[in-house]
Amino acid sequence: MKMKLIDEYRPLIEKRLDGLLPKSGYSDCADAMRYSLLSGGKRIRPILLLEFYKLCGGEGLSALDFAAVVEMIHTYSLIHDDLPCMDNDDMRRGRPSCHKAFGEDTALLAGDALLTLAFSVAAGTKGIDADRLTRAIKILSDKAGICGMIGGQVMDLKFEKTGAAPDELKEMYLKKTGCLLETAAMCGCVLAGADETVVAAASEYAKCVGLAFQIIDDILDCTADEKVFGKPVGSDEKNGKITYVTVFGLDNSKKLAAELTDKAVKILEEFDGNTETLKEFTRYLLNRNY
Ligand code: IPE
Ligand code: IPE
Ligand code: MG
Ligand code: MG
Ligand code: MG
Repeated sequence: MKMKLIDEYRPLIEKRLDGLLPKSGYSDCADAMRYSLLSGGKRIRPILLLEFYKLCGGEGLSALDFAAVVEMIHTYSLIHDDLPCMDNDDMRRGRPSCHKAFGEDTALLAGDALLTLAFSVAAGTKGIDADRLTRAIKILSDKAGICGMIGGQVMDLKFEKTGAAPDELKEMYLKKTGCLLETAAMCGCVLAGADETVVAAASEYAKCVGLAFQIIDDILDCTADEKVFGKPVGSDEKNGKITYVTVFGLDNSKKLAAELTDKAVKILEEFDGNTETLKEFTRYLLNRNY
């Protein structure tokens, strides 16, 4: 499935990620960081950040490093998510997951190193007003942490044992997946100097997209072509996960994701400026096949 924004932005983002990583051969851990970060993700989060930055009047490429930072944190979360003590998945982005290629010890450290590198790069961002940068780093650390993405992963593991009510499931999705998408959208606005109302609208948009994104991920987990999906189909069932698919069924889940996408697209209409490309991107995320 082709998407103009992805084709346009991906080479730019990947070139920057390459430049920010430690050189290959520095250590096994550095090679593992490289292996996972440059292994062909869709780059949804950095694209969202750069598009919101542009929408809010940001100019040039000064937000590119911060966009790369969000992708580093996302990739670290995937490395750890695949570990045997988490989802125990052997494939990621179309090749053996990090611990399969480098061993669990190195994969664990590569995740840690990507997380810490992300904050070093964020703090060193050039060409952005210092107050804006501090605000963005605060959003990033809160949303990636115990009250955000990590909090969601904690709930995910707990619910394997306890089960979950629908509202708890929703909270878990908003945290484990929504929070990083929210970081991308909000930080794009903040780095461009947008005011609070605009940042709040970006956050609302990303909550809808985040929830829909995880619902579609769950649907693909049972229906995708594994070669295209790039990670194991049936992982959720293997792990006894409670998902929107197990609670609401495939058809209702698809309907809910479509409604959330419509809501997200409506929120984009509140923004001044042209949001057509972002709208198209939002619909692509609903209809994606990997
Ligand atoms: C996978 O995210 C993890 C979820 C939050 C569902 P993506 O589907 O964005 O994965 P990549 O980055 O394209 O591999
Ligand atoms: C992703 O949830 C949440 C993360 C923060 C990594 P999943 O466990 O469903 O993601 P995939 O399907 O392994 O990519
Ligand atoms: Mg998981
Ligand atoms: Mg997983
Ligand atoms: Mg999944």
